[in-house]
Amino acid sequence: MPVLDRQPIAIILGTLLLVMVIGSCYPKRVGPAGSNGKQLTWPEMNLNQRKDHMKTVVLPRATLLFQTWRPERFAMVDCSLCHGQGPMTGNFQMPTSHLPQLSGELLLGPEFEKYPDTTRLKLDRLVPLMADALGKKSFSIITRRGFGCYSCHLGPSGPMFGN
Ligand code: HEC
Ligand code: HEC
Repeated sequence: MPVLDRQPIAIILGTLLLVMVIGSCYPKRVGPAGSNGKQLTWPEMNLNQRKDHMKTVVLPRATLLFQTWRPERFAMVDCSLCHGQGPMTGNFQMPTSHLPQLSGELLLGPEFEKYPDTTRLKLDRLVPLMADALGKKSFSIITRRGFGCYSCHLGPSGPMFGN
């Protein structure tokens, strides 16, 4: 029996592991360069950098998503879609009472029953889009952390899942 050459397998596995480790490094550097020349993560950005990131990255992507979904209803999309009075009051705190409260159920049973289209769109497209734009990990049912519905919406008795 010839000894199997395991080296190529080891290299492939090693590369795969490296990709997984690098790929799971959150938060990602999605912002402008900081003082050390490295791109900033969302948590590292100051208020003005966050506003700028919202304007140049989040708003255009969210606008496209909502307008493709329901052109008439979302003919005009701006910061107030998610932040309500935020642009007037300067309060951009999320999650916000400007948006409807959700049930707080982990599997979104009531939301799927009452608002299947919205829930599908949010789950399949808006959450991944936002997580990507902010360099955050999407919500995980196992860890109950990450960017998800409750990063924008409140639950029955306030913020949920670490938001
Ligand atoms: C599609 C929804 C959406 C739109 C549209 C949107 N934002 Fe946001 N914004 C968010 C979410 C979600 C967060 C919280 C992100 C986080 O920290 O997880 C946020 C956070 C912020 C913050 C940081 C608040 C803080 O306490 O640090 C600022 C400032 C902000 N947004 C400004 C804006 C401005 C200005 C616009 C319009 C140009 C805008 N946003 C449009 C969803 C939105
Ligand atoms: C980036 C912020 C953001 C995230 C994340 C988000 N939503 Fe929303 N949600 C909104 C906005 C803005 C509206 C109001 C616009 C609209 O009617 O769709 C809304 C409205 C809703 C409504 C009310 C719809 C109606 O017709 O009255 C439901 C239900 C809802 N969202 C469920 C969800 C669920 C479930 C998730 C997670 C899978 C989720 N949302 C994630 C921003 C968000």
